[in-house]
Amino acid sequence: MKVLVVGGGGREHALAWKLKQSPRVQKVYCAPGNAGIAEVAECVDINVEDIDALLDFVKYNWIDLTVVGPEVPLTLGIVDAFVKEDRRICGPDKIGAQLEGSKKFAKDFMQRYGIPTAEYKSFTSYAQAEEYVRLKGAPIVVKADGLAAGKGVIVAETVKEATDALKSIMKDKEFGEAGSSVVVEQCLQGEEASFMILTDSETVVPLATSQDHKRIFDGDKGPNTGGMGAYSPAPIIDEAMSETVMKTVIDPMMKGLKHEKINFRGVIYVGLMICDGKPYVLEYNCRFGDPEAQPILMRLDSDLFDLLKATAEGKLKDVEVTWKDETSICIVLASKGYPGSYEKGTVIEGLGSCKGRDDAYIFHAGTRFKRGDVVTSGGRVLGVTALGKDVQSAKDNVYNALEKVHFDGMQYRTDIGDKAIKR
Ligand code: AMP
Ligand code: GLY
Repeated sequence: MKVLVVGGGGREHALAWKLKQSPRVQKVYCAPGNAGIAEVAECVDINVEDIDALLDFVKYNWIDLTVVGPEVPLTLGIVDAFVKEDRRICGPDKIGAQLEGSKKFAKDFMQRYGIPTAEYKSFTSYAQAEEYVRLKGAPIVVKADGLAAGKGVIVAETVKEATDALKSIMKDKEFGEAGSSVVVEQCLQGEEASFMILTDSETVVPLATSQDHKRIFDGDKGPNTGGMGAYSPAPIIDEAMSETVMKTVIDPMMKGLKHEKINFRGVIYVGLMICDGKPYVLEYNCRFGDPEAQPILMRLDSDLFDLLKATAEGKLKDVEVTWKDETSICIVLASKGYPGSYEKGTVIEGLGSCKGRDDAYIFHAGTRFKRGDVVTSGGRVLGVTALGKDVQSAKDNVYNALEKVHFDGMQYRTDIGDKAIKR
């Protein structure tokens, strides 16, 4: 079987790496891929948004399954286009992808189906949004409605911060059309966790739990990023909490999808805030989390190809998923300046340091080849990931593994795992 992975980040490297391990997979392609993905897949120079070109590639190369990493092609309708041509693909249809593509759509959906979430209102008028912020007071959360590469959410500590955010989103159009409408919501206090499921619209298979670290600096300080590190499992989601999440969040969500005739054959990522022992939904993503996919896929014992093929075919009820009973931690190594502007083209050294190990791996995110070297090409550059029998040994292992890796200006958090150790 031949598989195409769409995307070129750390998540896609983890997907390609795991798919390649299936005895049923002869070849993995990745569009556009990166320097690390090139070790496990053939990289194809097609942009993730070029759905026509991706479909042509799949037809001419007899690809059996397409797995989509990032959200943008999903919101553009890649699944609808592939299904129309009878091609196997994992992911939601264009409407389903709105769960991530529009915060308003997602919040209205949660409200319709009684899914616990922060109180909110959505606005297309700046004046009305500002009035609501003044009425509610701070802290308060302002969200651009559309996709903003993880930067469209502002957790405002003061009313001024919130109105400034509204101005830059709605008036200055910082995120373009993504900011023509906004969601303003109550600020929840608690601990976050990522709860992902695989679904074919009928069966739900919960994936291993995980916890991302969104802020750039240790101690959850500084601005939000795409994610600076993650571990799996997330101890905050114990068995009892998992049951509560299934009952109060996942079951009504699945009812909602069915009721609205949404065809969702892929991963639903539910971003949770656990407040006083109760889960609330912060957001939906219609794909694997990045970096969460890296530690989760490292713990997956089952064959990922079988799982995703069954998902695409609507046969998830026939498969079983097993996990390694270990902890996995991923540390993101980022370019100097990230999440602000950063330089590209810096040479990376020590990339072979995990070669031959099956308990540690270096996933590439923003890397490319330049005259025989591997150089940085993005804000998040690498995701060093390691397993351990418990959180402490996974932490020791992963920080050990990244010691030999170096590029100028490299920054990373040193406290990934600590929250889990404290529990
Ligand atoms: P989102 O993309 O909606 O998950 O938001 C990005 C991040 O903003 C989340 O991971 C949280 O850290 C934070 N956030 C979002 N909504 C809220 C909320 N209602 N209360 C507190 N923090 C929030
Ligand atoms: N790690 C958060 C995300 O993938 O959106």
